[in-house]
Amino acid sequence: IRSVVLGCGSYLPEKTLTNAQLSEMVETSDDWIVQRTGIRERHIAAEGELTSDLATAAAKLALADAGLTVGEIDMIIVATATPDDTFPATAVTVQRKLGMEHGAAFDMQAVCSGFVFALSTADAFIRASQAKRILVIGAETFSRILDWSDRTTCVLFGDGAGAVILGASVQDGTREDRGVLTTHLRSDGRHRDKLYVDGGPSSTGTVGHLRMEGREVFKHAVGMITDVIEDAFRATGYGAEDVDWFVPHQANLRIIDGSAKKLGIESDKVVRTVSLHGNTSAASIPLALSVARDDGRIKRGDLILLEAMGGGFTWGSVLLRW
Ligand code: ACO
Repeated sequence: IRSVVLGCGSYLPEKTLTNAQLSEMVETSDDWIVQRTGIRERHIAAEGELTSDLATAAAKLALADAGLTVGEIDMIIVATATPDDTFPATAVTVQRKLGMEHGAAFDMQAVCSGFVFALSTADAFIRASQAKRILVIGAETFSRILDWSDRTTCVLFGDGAGAVILGASVQDGTREDRGVLTTHLRSDGRHRDKLYVDGGPSSTGTVGHLRMEGREVFKHAVGMITDVIEDAFRATGYGAEDVDWFVPHQANLRIIDGSAKKLGIESDKVVRTVSLHGNTSAASIPLALSVARDDGRIKRGDLILLEAMGGGFTWGSVLLRW
């Protein structure tokens, strides 16, 4: 059994925040932000618009794209570091908003790597025959955990959601080799203080704000990313030259282009959405997949390489054939 992508969808809040607007809020400039990160604008959720709303909107589009109803889904996994509530899980709220009363729904917390962790988990459930069709969502409202007076972090992030539906497909050797081919997950808690939120229900009883040593994160990112991608190549025998589309977590252009260069992936095979979305954490990969599928770049049969790295640190890769 393999898990195959049956459909995808994404949603961005209507309101955008440009670098020029940010430069009226903190001491920064369009030039600084574009040069260091490649980000030009990001979307910001409206007051009262929750992570579950973004997730539900993306999920509905993914269901329509796959030609499925919620009745045909067995499980919902929402990757998020910005849940609506401490509990219940945002996935359960999404389940309710979709009008789904069966199956199981739970959240996955691996910050920016959340979608890669969720996709890998969904793939494991499908290969173990414990689920047939799983809605895998990455959804975030990082605007709610940013310190809007800290120019070193508030310029980097945005809100959004993306969803993919994975479904079981029996490989009989006569069909194409489609689906998730390999996944590799890593974490190392020794790096906790380089990227964290200074609040939580058990520690402070507050929500807290994102804190980051940007230069330290940057220093580790490319090496960690390329390590798990090399694991994916070793496990499958594929190499950089076989990849049709590299769809990395969209943190900043320098990390994306640095990783592609180190791996030997040609620049025109890299999907980049960070300039218009900012870093949307767990939502960035399914958003980028959705954009590149909708504009005709990603086609059935393409070999797609996903990677992410984020708070924890956590990092991981997925190699799949669309
Ligand atoms: N506007 C203007 N100046 C700024 C801003 C800003 N928004 N932010 C920082 N500066 C200043 C700093 O204060 C510093 O000034 P100083 O030299 O007078 O002290 C100067 O710019 C340089 O600061 P650095 O932090 O050293 O700048 P750097 O070149 O490292 O760029 C950045 C910062 C963009 C955060 C970079 O380190 C980076 O991209 N790191 C990776 C972080 C990341 O992507 N995290 C996302 C989460 S993890 C993930 O998703 C992979």
